[in-house]
Amino acid sequence: MKFFIDTANLAEIQEANDLGVLDGVTTNPSLMAKEGVTGKQNILDHYVKICNIVDGDVSAEVVSTDFAGMVKEGEELAALHKNIVVKVPMIKDGVKAIKYFSQKGIKTNCTLVFSSGQAILAAKAGATYVSPFVGRLDDVSTDGLALIEQMVQIYQNYDFETQILAASVRHVMHLVQCAEIGADVVTCPLNVITGLLKHPLTDIGLEKFLADYKKGNA
Ligand code: G3P
Repeated sequence: MKFFIDTANLAEIQEANDLGVLDGVTTNPSLMAKEGVTGKQNILDHYVKICNIVDGDVSAEVVSTDFAGMVKEGEELAALHKNIVVKVPMIKDGVKAIKYFSQKGIKTNCTLVFSSGQAILAAKAGATYVSPFVGRLDDVSTDGLALIEQMVQIYQNYDFETQILAASVRHVMHLVQCAEIGADVVTCPLNVITGLLKHPLTDIGLEKFLADYKKGNA
């Protein structure tokens, strides 16, 4: 299972990378704006900075919604660095653009996926990754993890090579359940990754081990 961090914050990306368990990064226009990164050139430069921190796939999202615009933007993004994955929304022209990029050998991440039907289309178009949004489905009283389960089953039925990238993963249990179900990748904020560390019995046990060592070596 791959771990991607879902942020454009360079310090957090560095921290996750230093932990030694990071496989890539996902960003989106909202995450870029949250870091105050605006203007085309600044955004492109920021992607390069991210690629220089992490040796893994980095999703960079197009903001055009028509085929020609997505192709132009995507080719520009892909030329930035070998690890750039062009992130394309699940809309009609997006499906066409994913097909185009897959034929050109450019990696893609189909984003804003909320149904199995959309996931089938993304796989048929040849997406490298497909991003179902678990938390945002939960937000509207729909079981986000059930979608991951359906997708795993469907992709297995047909040996689709598209990797299921569980996105909008908000807490540790989301991550653990995605692992149980068999998502290929999860993308989440840093606190979800570091949240995996936490167990009170670990802290209590370590405290006792260190106290006993001190007693024996005083
Ligand atoms: O990767 C998608 C993600 O950024 C959305 O997360 O928490 O805004 O639903 P969230």
